[in-house]
Amino acid sequence: MSLAKSDPYLRRYTLGERINHWLVAISFVLLVLSGLPFFHPFFWSLTGLFGGPTMTRILHPWIGLFMVLMFAIMAVRFFKESLIRRHDIQWLKQINDVLLNRDEKLPPVGKNNAGQKLVYWLMLGCISLLLITGVMIWQPLVGEAMPITLRRLASLGHAYIAFLAIVTLIVHIYSGMWVKGSFQAMVRGRVSKAWARHHHDLWYEEEMEKERKHREISRRHDSSGQEAP
Ligand code: HEM
Repeated sequence: MSLAKSDPYLRRYTLGERINHWLVAISFVLLVLSGLPFFHPFFWSLTGLFGGPTMTRILHPWIGLFMVLMFAIMAVRFFKESLIRRHDIQWLKQINDVLLNRDEKLPPVGKNNAGQKLVYWLMLGCISLLLITGVMIWQPLVGEAMPITLRRLASLGHAYIAFLAIVTLIVHIYSGMWVKGSFQAMVRGRVSKAWARHHHDLWYEEEMEKERKHREISRRHDSSGQEAP
């Protein structure tokens, strides 16, 4: 128990959560690389990465399904911590303070800040719509059964939504680089207590409370064990 007392780190993500996240990230990037050639001829050479245009066309929807499955698991895991709370609205209202690094003026932040929560909800919306529109234009599996007007609308929607998802991902990666220590969190799964207190003070307090209770229980357990004989 003395180990927990002196441990300067907090666990932010379990191994399962990290593997899940990186599978989403890798499949998402592959999805973008295999989708861009069909968006504009400028990206046509990217088809070489997937064994040519035909293979790219065949693989893209299957990579999409894999990504959707991985994302669905991650979305369930991160659902609770992504719910928008009152202090998140205040955080968003003070976005200028966020951008100017005036952290001391910001309201308390839980495990995720409002920006991270927005990324979650935007991705949830985009990926759901990408799945629906993607299936609608999937030829020859589904697409041919769709009326042509619907297929055209789905195709247009698919491209616009993909664009929004890519912009969201760029913002997500940029914020990870901006807040130093975030990548460590998703790679190693842990952050220093100082980092947690600085960037996610509410979450830090909750974790410290859990740690205090845990220590209290094991202290009681130890002392009752000593009294027993
Ligand atoms: C492709 C490169 C990606 C990189 C480099 C990246 C990086 C990161 C990092 C560093 C974190 C930890 C942030 C923290 O704990 O403070 C994180 C968390 C997260 N990532 Fe990613 N990510 C990527 C792709 C994605 C994709 C494609 C999605 C969803 C479609 C996604 C969704 C999330 C979510 C929901 C979290 C937890 C909440 C948050 O911190 O935003 N990530 N990511």
